[in-house]
Amino acid sequence: MRILVIAAAVTAMSVGVSAQESLDYIEARQSAMKFVGGQMRGLGGMAQGQTEFNADYVRTAGWAIAVIANSYPLHFPAGTETGGNTEALPAIFEDPDGFAMVAQQLEAAALAMQKSASQDDLQMTFGQLGQACKACHSKYRSK
Ligand code: HEC
Repeated sequence: MRILVIAAAVTAMSVGVSAQESLDYIEARQSAMKFVGGQMRGLGGMAQGQTEFNADYVRTAGWAIAVIANSYPLHFPAGTETGGNTEALPAIFEDPDGFAMVAQQLEAAALAMQKSASQDDLQMTFGQLGQACKACHSKYRSK
């Protein structure tokens, strides 16, 4: 029994993080995405003219999404492939370069979006931002 426990601990160490740390990583990356989703709802309402165009809001939301996109791959160390209710697909861990590239595309789209000067601008840049979400989710997220 003791040998089994030690073996399990060694296995966890060799893959990177402990089971508890893995759950923490998963929660952090899901919270970051929930925040991004909330920003997108605000931006979408503005792009569709449901709320008044507000350049300050657009700038702030754009920066916030860009920062999250820039660091997003850091939320996926080895050992966090499974656990909790993660929707991360194995492709993230098999193809980290591809994953980093779609994260960079999100960053670039958010930085382009935050320069929008009018609702017309925002309609276009918001659409491109949405494409960047899909490009990653379709390959790297199970839902
Ligand atoms: C670089 C890849 C990538 C990009 C780009 C990306 N996402 Fe995600 N997103 C993920 C992954 C991976 C998950 C699943 C994380 C998990 O469950 O461990 C996820 C999960 C989510 C979730 C569910 C969070 C939860 O668990 O409640 C939302 C909402 C979301 N993304 C919104 C967005 C929006 C909106 C955009 C675009 C502005 C976006 N994402 C762009 C990779 C990405």
